[in-house]
Amino acid sequence: MLEILNLLKQYGSLVAVDYLNLKIEKGEMAGLVGPDGAGKTTLMRILSAILPPTSGSARVAGYDIIRDAEKLKEKIGYMPQRFGLYEDLTVLENLNFFSELYQLSKKQKDEKYKEVFNFSQLEPFKDFLAGNLSGGMKQKLALSCVLLHTPEVLLLDEPTRGVDPLSRRDFWRILFEQQKRGITIFISTSYMDEAERCQKVAFLDKGRLIAYGTPKKLKEIMNEFLYEISCDKTREAKSVLEKVDGISGISIFGEKIHFTLREEKLLANIKNKLKDTGVEILNLRRIEPSLEDIFIFLKQDKIEIRNG
Ligand SMILES: Nc1ncnc2c1ncn2[C@@H]1O[C@H](COP(=O)(O)OP(=O)(O)O)[C@@H](O)[C@H]1O
Ligand SMILES: [Mg+2]
Repeated sequence: MLEILNLLKQYGSLVAVDYLNLKIEKGEMAGLVGPDGAGKTTLMRILSAILPPTSGSARVAGYDIIRDAEKLKEKIGYMPQRFGLYEDLTVLENLNFFSELYQLSKKQKDEKYKEVFNFSQLEPFKDFLAGNLSGGMKQKLALSCVLLHTPEVLLLDEPTRGVDPLSRRDFWRILFEQQKRGITIFISTSYMDEAERCQKVAFLDKGRLIAYGTPKKLKEIMNEFLYEISCDKTREAKSVLEKVDGISGISIFGEKIHFTLREEKLLANIKNKLKDTGVEILNLRRIEPSLEDIFIFLKQDKIEIRNG
């Protein structure tokens, strides 16, 4: 349903998408995960036939992004990172605008409105100005607009960014409903809990696809020992760990530090080093990797600081 072949996009000398290959089957929900600047938006725009690639090709819903761009656009629902809702129009007027754009008949319109109001629960707000809706409701309206023409593939660029957790869950409920109807979904996100909910996850780093697979398969990539440690002095502990041979990755999650070790027997050495520096270990345990751990493990620069 979506196939990407040796896709390259350069902006001058900057490589935004680096010879990328990827395949998504019909009815699958695939997540695109990567930090800001990874190339997510660039990739989504290329797949939506809005931005031409430098080289390589891709097919979406059976159509080539270059040769069949217009037909392709009829088959996809693309929700850009900043979706252009008309804030000074009402909810209903926004839907009407998109219905006209897609040239829906009266009958199609009636059916579709019923359907989108059913999942979005926006009917009571139909005469509200779109600009006055909450962030979560705006995103539901935007999704409704791109579903009006019954697309086969949804390309969603960080649709839940900055949306509160409850609304994010609501948005995902709608996505799962759409998936059940057979729609193929490719969604970029920076939230790892959302990536966990996808059947397949693509990790993008500096334009390169560094891993692609089911969350379970991705977690099996970890071939080192992963530990979680909390100490009385987190910062001091981190600088000690950074100097230890055999630690290949360190990431800080609030008060906790995750690190990977090539060999388990090095752990005794680490305990001693921390003790010698006057750092007290409050808790130290081996843990199963989360998708976030895997991403950091696969990235080139493996030292990262995270809040939370
Ligand atoms: N129109 C553009 N001109 C030049 N550089 C761009 C342009 N759009 C994006 N970039 C650069 O390409 C890289 C990827 O950007 P983007 O696709 O927006 O990533 P993401 O959506 O993952 O944050 C970044 O380094 C960004 O600065
Ligand atoms: Mg982006």
